[in-house]
Formats: sequence, C-alpha cells, structure tokens
Amino acid sequence: MNLILLGPPGAGKGTQAKRLEVAHGIAQVSTGDMLRAEVAAGSEIGVRAKTIMESGALVPDALIISMLAARVRQPDCARGFILDGFPRTVPQAQALDDMLGSMGIALDSVIELQVDDTALVERIAGRFTCAKCGTGYHDAFHPTRAAGVCDVCGSHDFVRRADDRRETVSARLQAYHTQTAPILPHYAGQGRLHTVDGMADMGAVADAIGAILKRLPEKARVATN
Ligand code: AP5
Ligand code: MG
Ligand code: ZN
Repeated sequence: MNLILLGPPGAGKGTQAKRLEVAHGIAQVSTGDMLRAEVAAGSEIGVRAKTIMESGALVPDALIISMLAARVRQPDCARGFILDGFPRTVPQAQALDDMLGSMGIALDSVIELQVDDTALVERIAGRFTCAKCGTGYHDAFHPTRAAGVCDVCGSHDFVRRADDRRETVSARLQAYHTQTAPILPHYAGQGRLHTVDGMADMGAVADAIGAILKRLPEKARVATN
C-alpha cells in the first residue's frame, strides 16, 4: 500500500505516519526527517538545506526529487510507503507520478489532514522529540508520562526543531497555502484525494484514516499482509 499524507505544518502527518508504519508494516518516508538528518550530518545537502529550512521556505525541487527517488527504491519501501511531507509543489507531484509510473507502482490514496492555522501554531510551538529514540511529544496534547523521561526509552534528552519558532511557523504556513495546496486538485482529479478532519484527537484521526484504507480496493490492502 502506497500512501501520501498531505497537510500543513503541524497537521499531524508525522504522528499518523508513524502509526500507519506500525499498523501496516510499511515505511514512513519523511522528507523533513531526511533533510534534518542531512543537516545533522553536515553533508552537502544538509549545508544547502539548513538556512532554507530555518527560514520556513521550501528547499529546491530538484534536490528533494532526487533524494526521494533514491529513498523509495530502498528495500524497506518494497512492501509500501507513506510519503510524509512530499510532494509539496506541483513539479514534485508530477515528478512523483513519473517516478512511480516508471517503477510500475500505483499510488493507492492521498490523505489530506485539514487543520485550522491557529491550532497549528499551538501544536508546533509545543512539540518536542526524544533525542535518543525519536518519539514525538507535545507539552499540552501528548506529554511524557513522567516529567522529563521518555515513555519509550527512558532517555532524559529531548530536542525541539530549529524551525518551530513562532516567527518561522507563519512562513511555513504561507509556503503550504501558496505552494503545496495547489497540488490538491491534481490528486482530486485522479480520484485519489480523501480529506480527514485533522482537528480531532489523534486517535479519532487514526480511525478516520483507517476507515478510508478499509475502503481501498482489495489489491492495495492485500499488499500489506
Ligand atoms: P517537515 O518536517 O515535513 O515539516 P512540516 O510539513 O512543516 O510538518 P511538521 O513535521 O511540522 O508537522 P506534522 O504534520 O508532521 O505534525 P506532527 O505529527 O509532528 O518539513 C520541514 C521543512 O523541510 C520544510 O519547511 C522545508 O523547508 C523542508 N522540506 C521538507 N519536505 C520538503 C519538500 N518535499 N519540498 C521542499 N522542502 C521540503 O504533529 C505536530 C504536533 O502536534 C506534535 O507535537 C503532535 O504531538 C501534535 N499532534 C499531532 N496530531 C494531533 C492531534 N490530532 N491533536 C492534537 N495534537 C496533535
Ligand atoms: Mg512531520
Ligand atoms: Zn525515547
């Protein structure tokens, strides 16, 4: 099963992609996480991407498309993948169609998470992640069970993203509305677009996505078993 999760910054793409990864044994492919790993490694891509990401703008299409093309050919994507944060522009959506076409892979569903801009700022400003195992938390909506201790691995180290400052969030939202939202009609035209209320709590959003996936043709679901 091959899915795209679309939505503005903070909509819950990463949260839901991780759940789908566990539930269906398919790979989460987050271009944002891949870029942050490049930045942390100080690679050539990372050096180019760092200031762009910190400004809230999108990194150039050519760089992202070649990175993604290599990623979806990795063995862990053979059973399927969830694209989280890609495509984000019309040229990226067209490149993805061409890429999947040449690989003989079908896209099963595009799920859009709809959330109000004001809620997004609160979500992003409260977000933090375990530095050791990567589990995501939120100061108000998903705190650790014991203060300062990761529920999953017990680590005391947490990180906040460099682009999660309130000033940067509005630039990221603007990039979404001007550059990413125009790809929605592309997928609506293909009959693949499904919209979910991303304002609901995380479990309800997961249930709504599950209901969409249950209605996919048998072929897509069998591929995950
Ligand atoms: P990326 O890493 O993709 O960031 P983003 O799209 O801005 O999205 P986020 O990761 O901030 O949010 P999310 O939707 O994953 O939400 P999450 O689940 O964490 O991209 C970062 C940057 O990289 C871009 O700005 C760009 O520069 C570059 N980039 C990446 N891909 C690119 C591309 N294809 N082309 C060009 N440039 C690219 O949830 C947010 C918080 O809310 C969490 O704390 C969570 O616990 C909480 N939460 C989640 N769901 C709920 C809920 N239902 N109710 C309450 N709280 C919730
Ligand atoms: Mg994310
Ligand atoms: Zn942890």
